[in-house]
Amino acid sequence: EYQKELIRDTWQIVNQDQIHHGTVLFTRLFELEPALVFLFQYNSANFSSVQECLGSSEFTEHIRKVMTVIDAAVQSLDSLPSLEEYLTGLGRKHRATGVKLESFNTVGESLLYALESGLGDMFTSDTRDAWSRLYATVVSAMSQGWWR
Ligand code: HEM
Repeated sequence: EYQKELIRDTWQIVNQDQIHHGTVLFTRLFELEPALVFLFQYNSANFSSVQECLGSSEFTEHIRKVMTVIDAAVQSLDSLPSLEEYLTGLGRKHRATGVKLESFNTVGESLLYALESGLGDMFTSDTRDAWSRLYATVVSAMSQGWWR
């Protein structure tokens, strides 16, 4: 219960500016795994740089989509299994885009990085623990899409 409170209280802050915090997340992700930028192809064209990707409206929409999924998880902390089927399907779609399951570990690191940047002193080790667990639950459901 305490962890749920921490998640809700901290998300309320970060969720106020989804695009900003989502951009911090993906900027970090592309620093750690630059090749991931090539998985984002709109109108079947590759971005020629991370800056071009981050500046495109389609990619901004993807940031919005990611933040919406996280928001749904935060809203469903008491009923996470209700999201499982959706997340499995989402995992299947990501597998089809060529993302490796391992890259979701880097996404998790980048999420914690973005939360820490956004929350400052509010980002305690308990906050980190709580978010790590929630993220692990989401990725575990998504990972079902790699073999189902
Ligand atoms: C769709 C890539 C992480 C949520 C997509 C698409 C690509 C993609 C290429 C299709 C184009 C688009 O809709 O913009 C990636 C990569 C990721 C990543 C490379 C990181 C390695 C995530 C995460 C979430 C997420 C962490 C949420 C937890 C979504 C959603 C869609 C989507 C909701 C739309 C699916 C639909 O059309 O039904 N992603 N994604 N993505 N992604 Fe991601």
